[in-house]
Amino acid sequence: MLVEFAFIILVINIQEILGSKAPRIKPFHFSGELSMGLRTGVMCIVIDGDPPFDFKWLKDGISLPEKSELSVKSVDEFTSTMSIKNLNADSNGNYTCRVSNSAGWDEKTDVLNLKGANFPKIKPFSFSGELREGLRTNVMCSVIDGEPPFDFQWFKDNQPLSQEKGQYSVQPFDEFTAILTIKKLDSASNGNYTCRVTNAVGSDQKSDVLSMKGFKAPQIKPFHFSGELRTGLRTGVPCIVAEGDPPFDFKWLKDGVTLQEKSGLTIKLVDEFTSMLSIKSLDAESNGNYTCKVSNSAGWDEKSDVLNMKGEAIIKDEALSCGYICERKPTT
Ligand SMILES: *[C@@H]1O[C@H](CO)[C@@H](O)[C@H](O)[C@H]1NC(C)=O
Ligand SMILES: *[C@@H]1O[C@H](CO)[C@@H](O)[C@H](O)[C@H]1NC(C)=O
Ligand SMILES: *[C@@H]1O[C@H](CO)[C@@H](O)[C@H](O)[C@H]1NC(C)=O
Repeated sequence: MLVEFAFIILVINIQEILGSKAPRIKPFHFSGELSMGLRTGVMCIVIDGDPPFDFKWLKDGISLPEKSELSVKSVDEFTSTMSIKNLNADSNGNYTCRVSNSAGWDEKTDVLNLKGANFPKIKPFSFSGELREGLRTNVMCSVIDGEPPFDFQWFKDNQPLSQEKGQYSVQPFDEFTAILTIKKLDSASNGNYTCRVTNAVGSDQKSDVLSMKGFKAPQIKPFHFSGELRTGLRTGVPCIVAEGDPPFDFKWLKDGVTLQEKSGLTIKLVDEFTSMLSIKSLDAESNGNYTCKVSNSAGWDEKSDVLNMKGEAIIKDEALSCGYICERKPTT
């Protein structure tokens, strides 16, 4: 009984050592017309080695994804086919057939590269001709390479362009081209316009800056803290844009640091051209160099004034008593 058992094991081992040969695969190639929507397939044939074989298909080094357009079929002991039903941009990649048996393994790979599965490429565009208030202008975003369908998106200063207000219209001209029209130029039309195009494989974008002639940078009227300035009183200054085209962006700074509204300090937009800074109750911390900075798409301006409460100037000059100020800036 024991002898019989040992004999069987011996037979198996000998068979493995002497008989079983590792598989060898015939190289395969994707061929014929390979374009979107078509069908293709390859065959993995083991031309040498002993069965049984284990077949495995990989795409870009990992197991073939479970997708309805991909199917694998075993034809016979030595052959497996892999077919792709509906070629699309996702089909591109390296396909590998890996075969193993008890003696070893082999693999062959081929690259599937669809024609036309290219990224979109946009032709640069620029705003040209007469650009001034009241006129109409447009630019064309043309895709000169890549496979449709394309998705066109427009941005102004990196924000998606809103067509709601009716200032803009975006019209497809053909499959490869979209036209952006600015119906009536005004100061708010200035900015950096971007066209972004996406297809199944990727995207591209191009930008141009629209800058109307005659569009002026802001100029601020100088302001001054005035009247009586002492602890406990109230004060404020307006920042008035005397010249330039809206929209403006207002910013207040104190000693170079952006001012945030807090209790006792308010910043109010009075109208398109005016921002008001008010301090409810002056204290030692109110002293400093206040700056109003205004910008629009054509440029910027800033004006500053130093708030210096009288009482404290005296304290500093005469060093009569050491309060708040001396603690922080000891006199030498
Ligand atoms: C396919 O394999 C080749 C060579 O190994 C490599 O250069 C290429 O980047 C691979 N392509 C993909 C899509 O993985
Ligand atoms: C316009 O916007 C694009 C996209 O964000 C950017 O790459 C480009 O530098 C901008 N151009 C200017 C002049 O600001
Ligand atoms: C106040 O700040 C402005 C802007 O930073 C600067 O140009 C100006 O010299 C400062 N004035 C004083 C008196 O420090």
